[in-house]
Amino acid sequence: PDGPLDGRIGGCLFAAPKTPRCPATCSCTKDSAFCVDTKAIPKSFPPGIISLTMVNAAFTEIPEGAFSHMHLLQFLFIENNDIQTLSKHTFRGLKSLTHLSLSNNNLQVLPRDLFKHLDILTDLDLRGNSFRCDCKIKWLVDWMEKTNTSVPAIYCASPFEFQGRRIHDLTPRDFNCISADFAVYETYSFQSLSVESYEFNDDQYVVFAQPNTGICTVFIWDHVNMLFKTHYNITSRSAVYCKPVVINNTLYMVVAQLFGGSHIYKWEEGPLRFVKIQDIDTTRVRKPNFIETFQIEGDWYFAVVDGSKAGSTSLYRWNSNGFYSHQSLHPWHRDNHIDFLEVDGKPRLILSSASQPPVVYQWNHSQRQFAYHSQITDSGDVQMVKHFWVRKVLYLCLTRFIGDSKILRWDNQRFVEIQTLPSRGSMAVHPFSVGVRQYLLLGSDYSFSRIYLWDELTQRFQPFQELNMLAPRGFSLVSVDNKDILLAASFKGKTMAYQHLVVDLSAK
Ligand SMILES: *[C@@H]1O[C@H](CO)[C@@H](O)[C@H](O)[C@H]1NC(C)=O
Ligand SMILES: *[C@@H]1O[C@H](CO)[C@@H](O)[C@H](O)[C@H]1NC(C)=O
Ligand SMILES: *[C@@H]1O[C@H](CO)[C@@H](O)[C@H](O)[C@H]1NC(C)=O
Ligand SMILES: *[C@@H]1O[C@H](CO)[C@@H](O)[C@H](O)[C@H]1NC(C)=O
Repeated sequence: PDGPLDGRIGGCLFAAPKTPRCPATCSCTKDSAFCVDTKAIPKSFPPGIISLTMVNAAFTEIPEGAFSHMHLLQFLFIENNDIQTLSKHTFRGLKSLTHLSLSNNNLQVLPRDLFKHLDILTDLDLRGNSFRCDCKIKWLVDWMEKTNTSVPAIYCASPFEFQGRRIHDLTPRDFNCISADFAVYETYSFQSLSVESYEFNDDQYVVFAQPNTGICTVFIWDHVNMLFKTHYNITSRSAVYCKPVVINNTLYMVVAQLFGGSHIYKWEEGPLRFVKIQDIDTTRVRKPNFIETFQIEGDWYFAVVDGSKAGSTSLYRWNSNGFYSHQSLHPWHRDNHIDFLEVDGKPRLILSSASQPPVVYQWNHSQRQFAYHSQITDSGDVQMVKHFWVRKVLYLCLTRFIGDSKILRWDNQRFVEIQTLPSRGSMAVHPFSVGVRQYLLLGSDYSFSRIYLWDELTQRFQPFQELNMLAPRGFSLVSVDNKDILLAASFKGKTMAYQHLVVDLSAK
């Protein structure tokens, strides 16, 4: 077949190597090209072009390596367009570039290290854009502080607190770009009612109460595999709380059971095992809910919180042979939880009960007993009260099952309510800190559990992250091998471990 079409193709094939022409939307001189209304960045230019100007371009995005075929380019003016997006490698290959302008576009952010390989850039014009001065632009502030490239003044268009500020006047310290994430680290296929962590002989342990399986199960941290692995099971028919306490280099485990009484075990060597050494008086403790340990004037105590009508929360003291019954607090109130704290050197207990608002007991030195001190709020039906400190100021978090949980601040006279947090079936709350970050985890049976982060500016907790756990009953933070791991006992689902990961929002 030999039609006219074939002749034309053949003619092209044998033509001398063609020099690229000036693109249709541009006008060119010997060394410069000026392009208006261009639909895309032209693929080729005549040789010898060292200056390229682009105005009123019809595109909003410049892809990576768009100019990589123009390594002789010295002047690049991408001005008065509507460019919104640049790739990190947009200017790759522009080894000879000395002048760059992106002025009067619609840029809000610039990808990190955008100017990194422009080694001999002397002038950069970024004026006439609407920069958003957040973590994504921190690198630019950093770069402008160090570079020898001259950059005429540019301003922040947002966010509100930076509006109108000169970017040159900002410092990297103006940006708070460190955030965090609680990521699932491990899940354990058992349900649990309590979780406690402890160190013993330089090893890190956690212990869970598993009423359904009938054990207190001890896990030990494996430094090689970076996991908790099963270590020992204490058979316990209906364990509701397993509380470790190390006294005088000896490990004891107080095991509270719903049925069959509560017991104290001691860890013995050769063979390694927990041996039951003591029973807890079942006439006082009938329906244990929680155990707390603490030290007063050098003596070790533990308190078993009793939730039955006829029982009462009871204190036991260690006296070198065993634990001796020390004091029973008020009967009849169906107690849920106890928290030990010291205010101005005075030991105190905060007791939460089903049938009355939380009350404070204070230690009487001469009597060596706790005595009723005060009532905290009028709120009834409080599940748990826990204290925490932020910069030497004492706070309480108080959780209620339905309605509102509360944050209270100690003002040297009394506790003042400063914040309410919605409770959706909240049995457990846990204040904890990682580095300088103060968190609060509020469990929920009817919704996601929620982590709040303390905000220094407002002196309040702000919602931080939601975690999906079923019927959480207790939490514990373990810091080991540079990892911060949050463990959550779940009564109706899998027991969970989350890792606290630090995230730098300016890094991408
Ligand atoms: C800026 O110029 C000075 C002096 O010529 C030089 O010592 C320095 O390394 C340059 N800085 C950068 C980041 O190029
Ligand atoms: C403890 O009990 C659990 C569940 O029955 C079992 O999987 C685990 O192997 C036991 N651990 C030890 C150290 O016996
Ligand atoms: C600690 O243990 C040692 C050795 O078993 C014993 O002599 C001492 O009385 C113990 N101290 C306390 C406070 O129990
Ligand atoms: C401690 O108890 C004694 C005897 O009941 C009492 O006289 C004393 O006032 C109490 N001390 C304090 C600080 O409450």
